[in-house]
Amino acid sequence: MSLQNKRIVLGITGSIAAYKSAVLTRLFIKKGAEVQIVITPAGKEFITPVTLSALSQKAVVSEFFTANNGTWHSHVDLGLWADAMIIAPATASTIGKMANGIADNMLITTYLSMKAPVFVAPAMDLDMFRHPSTKRNIDILRSYGNHIIEPTEGQLASHLEGKGRMQEPENIVTYIEDFFALKDE
Ligand SMILES: Cc1cc2nc3c(=O)[nH]c(=O)nc-3n(C[C@H](O)[C@H](O)[C@H](O)COP(=O)(O)O)c2cc1C
Repeated sequence: MSLQNKRIVLGITGSIAAYKSAVLTRLFIKKGAEVQIVITPAGKEFITPVTLSALSQKAVVSEFFTANNGTWHSHVDLGLWADAMIIAPATASTIGKMANGIADNMLITTYLSMKAPVFVAPAMDLDMFRHPSTKRNIDILRSYGNHIIEPTEGQLASHLEGKGRMQEPENIVTYIEDFFALKDE
């Protein structure tokens, strides 16, 4: 299967699993997709925009504007451009902001402007994942029609065992391919 010419906005947030986003970007590009990365300020503490822009062959979007020259990024244009938006990894904080429309960074404004299907791959510690607040926010995203790519069980970065590991990049790609295969049939 391929993702030839599919335009993907990849949202990256401040989770330890952000290192997997580099592999995810590479896999999307290998499948023929165009990838525009939007990263939160916290996300940049976990993986560098230089790595991501080299892999995606596009400048990474993070800030609303560049203070020294006034250039700004249009979340509205990104919302119209994309065939899909995938937020991987999605932190508890970002999921909460998405559910409640707290549009204080480029990733959330892009999400709120998005015309294309949205896929969310949560990544967090087991207690964060099973907290009623997280569960409620994920249910709210489902009610908006967003697709949740469930995390798996296993050893977490905290060394605890449980559900909260972001789905492996290969499985996320398969999920998106299956979605387009059905849609484009
Ligand atoms: C080492 C470390 C790892 C973290 N991993 C996660 C994580 O996997 N999931 C999560 O929800 N928050 C995690 N956090 C907390 C987030 O970075 C924090 O809530 C941040 O504000 C998220 O911002 P963002 O969603 O805008 O990117 C981690 C924090 C640290 C210091």
